[in-house]
Amino acid sequence: MKITSAEFVKSAFNETHWTTDGLPEIAFLGRSNVGKSSLLNSLLQRKGLARTSNTPGRTQSVNYFLVNERFYFVDLPGYGYAKVSKAMRADWGKMAESYLGERQELALSIQLVDARHEPTQLDLQLHEWLLFHGKNHLIVATKADKLSSIKLNKSLSAIEKALPQSPILPYSSVTGKGKEELWEKIAAALTKN
Ligand code: GTP
Ligand code: MG
Repeated sequence: MKITSAEFVKSAFNETHWTTDGLPEIAFLGRSNVGKSSLLNSLLQRKGLARTSNTPGRTQSVNYFLVNERFYFVDLPGYGYAKVSKAMRADWGKMAESYLGERQELALSIQLVDARHEPTQLDLQLHEWLLFHGKNHLIVATKADKLSSIKLNKSLSAIEKALPQSPILPYSSVTGKGKEELWEKIAAALTKN
C-alpha cells in the first residue's frame, strides 16, 4: 500500500476518548516489549511515529494513528509486564476487553508474539478470546531477524501448534521482512469492512 499520510491523532485512556468518525481500525496487540510500536512504525515507514523503548510498558494508552486519511492503526498497551501493579493489570484486561469486544470499527486484530519464544499464558488467552469472539485476526511473529532461517521455521511451527487456526506471518521491523505480506492482509481486511 502506498502511504500518503500518517499522523498521530490521540491517546485514549477510556471509551469516551475513542474516535467517533467511523473509519475502520487495525489493532496491534501483544505482550509488553514484543515490538508493537516498532511494527507500526515499520509499516508506515515513519521512525519515531509510535514511541518505542527498551523499557517494557512504554505504551500505556490506546494510541490512534490516522493513515491515508482512510483508516486507523491502533497501538494498544502491552500486557504481561511483571512489574506493573495488580490494579494496572486488571485495567489492561478491562480496557482490552471493552475495546476488542465493543468496537464496531475494528476491521482486523493483529496479535504479536516474539518469534524466539513459546507463546506465554497471556498470549494463549488473548488468542482464545479472539477465536471465541470470531474476530478477524492474524498472528505476527516479531523480531524474526534475531533467528537463523532454520530456527525461525522451527519456532513458527511451535507457535502454530500453540496458537492454532490462525494465519501466522514472520516479521522484522529491522529488515522489513514480511512487510508486503502484512500490508496485503491489512488491505484485504479494509476492503471487507
Ligand atoms: P510496549 O509499548 O512496552 O508494550 O512495547 P512494544 O510492544 O510497543 O515494543 P517496542 O516496539 O517498543 O519494541 C521493544 C524493543 O524491541 C525495542 O528495543 C525495539 O527496538 C525492539 N524491536 C522491536 N521490533 C524488533 C525487530 O523486529 N527486530 C529487532 N531486532 N528488535 C526489535
Ligand atoms: Mg509500544
